[in-house]
Amino acid sequence: MASHSVVLLFFIYISLFTSLCFADDPFVSYEFEVSYITASPLGVPQQVIAINGRFPGPTINVTTNNNVVVNVRNKLDEDLLMTWAGIHQRRSSWQDGVLGTNCPIPSKWNWTYQFQVKDQIGSFFYFPSTNFQRASGGYGGFIINNRPIIPIPFATPDGDITIMIGDWFTRNHTALRRALNGGKDLGMPDGVLINGKGPYKYNSTLVPDGIDYETIDVHPGKTYRLRVSNVGVSTSLNFRIQNHNLLLAETEGSYTVQQNYTSLDIHVGQSYSFLVTMDQNASTDYYIVASARFVNESLWQRVTGVAILHYSNSKGKASGPLPDPPNDQYDKTFSMNQARSIRWNVSASGARPNPQGSFRYGSINVTDIYMLKNKPPVTINGKRRTTLSGISFVNPTTPIRLADQFKLKGVYKLDFPHRPITGPPKMESSIINGTYRGFMEIILQNNDTKMQSYHLDGYGFFVVGMDYGEWTENSRGTYNKWDGVARTTTQVFPGAWTAILIFLDNVGVWNLRTENLDTWYLGQETYIKIVNPEASNKTEFPMPDNALFCGALSKMQKPQDISSATSIMGNQSKLLSSLVMMICAVISIFY
Ligand SMILES: *[C@@H]1O[C@H](CO)[C@@H](O)[C@H](O)[C@H]1NC(C)=O
Ligand SMILES: *[C@@H]1O[C@H](CO)[C@@H](O)[C@H](O)[C@H]1NC(C)=O
Ligand SMILES: *[C@@H]1O[C@H](CO)[C@@H](O)[C@H](O)[C@H]1NC(C)=O
Ligand SMILES: *[C@@H]1O[C@H](CO)[C@@H](O)[C@H](O)[C@H]1NC(C)=O
Ligand SMILES: *[C@@H]1O[C@H](CO)[C@@H](O)[C@H](O)[C@H]1NC(C)=O
Ligand SMILES: *[C@@H]1O[C@H](CO)[C@@H](O)[C@H](O)[C@H]1NC(C)=O
Ligand SMILES: *[C@@H]1O[C@H](CO)[C@@H](O)[C@H](O)[C@H]1NC(C)=O
Ligand SMILES: *[C@@H]1O[C@H](CO)[C@@H](O)[C@H](O)[C@H]1NC(C)=O
Ligand SMILES: *[C@@H]1O[C@H](CO)[C@@H](O)[C@H](O)[C@H]1NC(C)=O
Ligand SMILES: *[C@@H]1O[C@H](CO)[C@@H](O)[C@H](O)[C@H]1NC(C)=O
Ligand SMILES: *[C@@H]1O[C@H](CO)[C@@H](O)[C@H](O)[C@H]1NC(C)=O
Ligand SMILES: *[C@@H]1O[C@H](CO)[C@@H](O)[C@H](O)[C@H]1NC(C)=O
Repeated sequence: MASHSVVLLFFIYISLFTSLCFADDPFVSYEFEVSYITASPLGVPQQVIAINGRFPGPTINVTTNNNVVVNVRNKLDEDLLMTWAGIHQRRSSWQDGVLGTNCPIPSKWNWTYQFQVKDQIGSFFYFPSTNFQRASGGYGGFIINNRPIIPIPFATPDGDITIMIGDWFTRNHTALRRALNGGKDLGMPDGVLINGKGPYKYNSTLVPDGIDYETIDVHPGKTYRLRVSNVGVSTSLNFRIQNHNLLLAETEGSYTVQQNYTSLDIHVGQSYSFLVTMDQNASTDYYIVASARFVNESLWQRVTGVAILHYSNSKGKASGPLPDPPNDQYDKTFSMNQARSIRWNVSASGARPNPQGSFRYGSINVTDIYMLKNKPPVTINGKRRTTLSGISFVNPTTPIRLADQFKLKGVYKLDFPHRPITGPPKMESSIINGTYRGFMEIILQNNDTKMQSYHLDGYGFFVVGMDYGEWTENSRGTYNKWDGVARTTTQVFPGAWTAILIFLDNVGVWNLRTENLDTWYLGQETYIKIVNPEASNKTEFPMPDNALFCGALSKMQKPQDISSATSIMGNQSKLLSSLVMMICAVISIFY
């Protein structure tokens, strides 16, 4: 590279970073190269999406209020968007990585995300949000640690272990997409992966030879924090460890009341932290199991993930049958009661020093109510589609947030109905008009026969109630107004409802979707748009300088010089970032 361009670049870095240093909060940078690799997690070679050659990708591990910079290079042969599910991206839906807010990153291009994990703690994961890519991988853990001045509500664990569980198909995401586009159901998955690996051979009929399985190494007497996320396509999984209790401690950014479970149902998109004490005598290794739920388990036996918990003093291999799943085939209340038992520790501090419960959500008046109802797939215009309240969402070619920025009309409609429409289902780009600083109640009514989980970007919400049957006004009498947990993804049982409350203080356009990838892909989503009536850069950051343009704005997009983008990150980058850190340090002396 010519030396003058290095110098120029140097000054760009300085001016960029000096302005950022004033934000006072440290920067943490990641380079993500997203590419295909060939892997055989279930014994069948297939194309898997890796990050920096790894599947699952690296865990992002940061601290409350850090500024996170992730330069994503798309080495796939199609568009890519990374989303940071559960990260509130305060004031910046520009960085959310879903089609409603961002143009996709074209093949061979890179794009740098930058966002602050403001006032947040907890366990989350990231994944590619478009083109059904999550079914081929591309995901990884996302941890936000407490600032050192705020104690966590348990003794510091002896280790911190990220576990990604999920159903898995040996067909790749393009083949699965083709099936869905062709109006077909995906059918039974081929297995369950734990950290990208297939099952331990616990049964020679069910598990073929030569499958690489995950081993978690531990020491006797120690207590570990296990952060478990269901990153799969559509299957709810029961998670359990043979002979070990799971002490639930946190879910998606909230510390929970600590309770022991022998197993816990983890629905698609959900994350939990468990404290697990290695209190067994290590006569053998122990099974870690993630098995399919709410299906005919005798038919779905192969859809079981098995990893190994290996004590350093273990006397032998795990053997014998797996620990039993809950025996509740004829008791549909078991799992729901378990979900209801997950509660907020109101006296623990979260990201801020004051107790979590000092936000008394139960005494805030609701200002707006939406009843969102999903049904089994329907046919609209000859296509198999899924709906929310009778509307199958169509992503506009110009992202909603970008259309607003450039005052383009007719891209979407701000008319999402408060109640399900009664006429025939339709395909629309219809979104919810949220009121800034309003307090919204959303009732999710699942009229399908399959479990659904729902996620809202940009927010944590309070899960205040769930029950079987149709929600009525009287259902409010059952709401938990005191210690319902604040989280980012909730399950809605088939034939049941779940009620959530959201304080709409985060300006932007935020995706509300099912996390079940197949139903999401077919249209079961919408967005909530929240506008501060007073123009201000304090409640929403301006459009970032590197924003991509597409759809009606594609003429504004400059081509990307891929060659210079790659050479820049050569040897100079380390030098530059250390210089930047020095400058930040010098500046911080004066502030
Ligand atoms: C996905 O699988 C199909 C065949 O099922 C194959 O033609 C295609 O190359 C695969 N795509 C990728 C990206 O691996
Ligand atoms: C692409 O990556 C380079 C560094 O490799 C970075 O300088 C550039 O800003 C990135 N481009 C975008 C659009 O983020
Ligand atoms: C995350 O980083 C902290 C230091 O900031 C470290 O103590 C911790 O072990 C890391 N966690 C993981 C899972 O890597
Ligand atoms: C293995 O699984 C098969 C099929 O479920 C079952 O019939 C058999 O008893 C199992 N074998 C052992 C050793 O558990
Ligand atoms: C959870 O179970 C462990 C044993 O595995 C026990 O030591 C602990 O006291 C239990 N904690 C609670 C809160 O029940
Ligand atoms: C270890 O525990 C197993 C059951 O978990 C028991 O059968 C065995 O006798 C124990 N061994 C020792 C040495 O305590
Ligand atoms: C599960 O499938 C098996 C095999 O087809 C069948 O015999 C059994 O009745 C089914 N169980 C339920 C609860 O439907
Ligand atoms: C709640 O958090 C506090 C810390 O403020 C902790 O001491 C207590 O054990 C936690 N309670 C439960 C039931 O988990
Ligand atoms: C909520 O509404 C009630 C009745 O409309 C009113 O008395 C109360 O002051 C309101 N509470 C708040 C916090 O606004
Ligand atoms: C959206 O809601 C705001 C109040 O938050 C209201 O002023 C505006 O008229 C609404 N827009 C539409 C199209 O309903
Ligand atoms: C779906 O809704 C209809 C009409 O309200 C109701 O009769 C039916 O039981 C519901 N089915 C489920 C699975 O919720
Ligand atoms: C917000 O920032 C943009 C760009 O930095 C600037 O053009 C605009 O005037 C600012 N708006 C307000 C209301 O401060």
